[in-house]
Amino acid sequence: MTNLTDSAAWRALAAHYPLVEPLHMRDLFGGDPGRVGRCSLRACGILLDYSKNRVAGETMRLLRALAAEVGVAERARAMFSGARINTTEDRAVLHALLRDSRESPVCEVDEATRAGVERGLDAMERFSGAVRSGRWRGHTGERITDVVNIGIGGSDLGPRMACRALAPHAGGPRMHFVSNVDGMHLTSTLAGLDPARTLFIVASKTFTTQETMANARAARRWLTGGPGEGAAAVSRHFVAVSADRTAAVEFGIDPGSVFEMRDWVGGRYSLWSAIGLPIAIAAGMARFREMLGGAHAMDLHFRDAPVERNMPVTLALLGVWYTNFFGAETHAVLAYDRRLDRFAAHLQQLDMESNGKRVTVDSAPVDYATGPIVWGEPGTDGQHAFFQLLHQGTRLVPADFIVAARCDHALPDQHRLLVANCFAQTEALMRGRSADEVRSGLEADGLPSGRIESLAPHRVFGGNRPTNTLLLDRLDAFTLGALIALYEHKVFVQGAVWRVNSFDQWGVELGKTLATAITRELESPDEARPHDASTAALIAEYRRLAC
Ligand code: F6P
Repeated sequence: MTNLTDSAAWRALAAHYPLVEPLHMRDLFGGDPGRVGRCSLRACGILLDYSKNRVAGETMRLLRALAAEVGVAERARAMFSGARINTTEDRAVLHALLRDSRESPVCEVDEATRAGVERGLDAMERFSGAVRSGRWRGHTGERITDVVNIGIGGSDLGPRMACRALAPHAGGPRMHFVSNVDGMHLTSTLAGLDPARTLFIVASKTFTTQETMANARAARRWLTGGPGEGAAAVSRHFVAVSADRTAAVEFGIDPGSVFEMRDWVGGRYSLWSAIGLPIAIAAGMARFREMLGGAHAMDLHFRDAPVERNMPVTLALLGVWYTNFFGAETHAVLAYDRRLDRFAAHLQQLDMESNGKRVTVDSAPVDYATGPIVWGEPGTDGQHAFFQLLHQGTRLVPADFIVAARCDHALPDQHRLLVANCFAQTEALMRGRSADEVRSGLEADGLPSGRIESLAPHRVFGGNRPTNTLLLDRLDAFTLGALIALYEHKVFVQGAVWRVNSFDQWGVELGKTLATAITRELESPDEARPHDASTAALIAEYRRLAC
């Protein structure tokens, strides 16, 4: 395999970049009335307008040639066929199977595997229905009013984000999420809850994650008063989602209350599995199935749409353009929807744990940048916090703006304000405000010329800052599923271009190992180990202060 940067398509893009870099989007729009039509795609209830990007017609053609040369479509076929594309863990990557349909199958798997997924969904349906209806009761016969999901990373971020996004459709018990090993997270969540009415979901694929197990043990003590006590209570108040059934049962969970995960589901792709149980309990299984339906529709689109009309491929290639040719270091995701206030957090894990890699699938170091730093906060709050830098700072920050056309509340005037702000920001980022425009504005205000000359540079906006706008018909379970799957496939395509394994996460291991060792040292001074001078001094100071 040719090194990426030596490929013909890459070289063509490198030669093309100096021609595009000086162009201003204002001029690209001015000279091309068909730009928006050409640079808009619609799929699964989402309109993507990518016309406000620093691309000329030729740019997209060259980027698509890159996708073809690196074999994105072949890699997607391999994923959907169940090939073990997660080579370092020797696993298939089949989260799309969790939302597949027999009528329009995307994944090619044996009947037993497909039937296993369906059985898993049925089990979720039965259990979530029983909790929501009150048929599932606590050990003293009380109805469950609060559900606490204990999990971290993919066992927390996805379901937490989706529960918030679907909150207006909820109607189930109150949902809480505890992820952090910081004891404050669990204690503040449990304060005010009634053990007799609280159900815990211990969500951990491995059932070994330090934070989750510490919180689960503490929650069990809160429920029963001590380890080994109250087995009956544990069996009515704890369920688990895990690939390690034995460990969950050893913890005290009833074997019938362990919802299984398969090893071909990565943590950050697992909200479609039983890890999505909080979504089914909070919003109902019908909503959860609608979410799966939206994701499946996006899978079909990703698999079948030609590359020119393919939304995940388009977003991915634009990201490659900015990361590798413009040198952009970050990518902002700005959802103009309070219900999506955890969306960027979910995407951070999805993107950064997937493509934060520096070695290719052939175990060779890369000589190009890979995954960007993904970040974001909901609009309009962000406008009053960090948008200054987006508009006038020295860095190029490509951004996705997400907003729904229809709202689900009774303040439509405010929704119009929200949408107007979203559109205004992308327009301002693209157009900017020239020195002449600033000067004439200040002249009209009657300012003296000296003052105008000193103020003008501060009030000029360069513009030419790239954005994508994702306009959802409405934020419902279907479009939410499609939106999440859109980003999953975007990340997949970028991983294929950069030739990294997007499905392992070895980079989180070292810190975990060291934390286990340091925990022992913090517990007992006899456990002293060699450390660098800084870490040794911090441990010593902790011991002095904490005693
Ligand atoms: O932080 C690494 C990680 O393995 C994530 O990939 C995963 O989502 C998270 O920890 C939680 O893992 P588990 O579900 O096994 O507790």
